[in-house]
Amino acid sequence: MTRHDVTLEWPDGRTQEIEVDGKETVLEAAQRAGARLPYDCRKGTCITCVGRLIELEDGRDEPNDDGAAASDANGTEAPRDAAAAFTYRRSPAALTDGEQADGYVLLCIAHPQADCRIEVGPRVRAGVGDSPWA
Ligand code: FES
Repeated sequence: MTRHDVTLEWPDGRTQEIEVDGKETVLEAAQRAGARLPYDCRKGTCITCVGRLIELEDGRDEPNDDGAAASDANGTEAPRDAAAAFTYRRSPAALTDGEQADGYVLLCIAHPQADCRIEVGPRVRAGVGDSPWA
């Protein structure tokens, strides 16, 4: 069974590495490991569980396939395309294509396709719009 190591990173500097089995979502693996992450619907509709992909450890240096630099002149990291890093149990309809391209991922329905680091916590939630069904 395919497994991936996922490092969760909170704004206060805490980190926790979890192992996500192929059939698990990131949220399910986090709960199994005792990590507390926010969630509500568990169906990809409310955005409560949103995280942001920081780094994808799949052997590529570039975050996207378009050849964009990994960081700009100010050292700001370019967003990783979450749509390329996760498969979903169901459509992540609460996120726009642009939000996915900026690295946002719904952890309740997301299966990672490579080892990666994900920012979690309320600051991530503040970066995306409201659920279209809110
Ligand atoms: S818990 Fe609602 S979208 Fe994940």
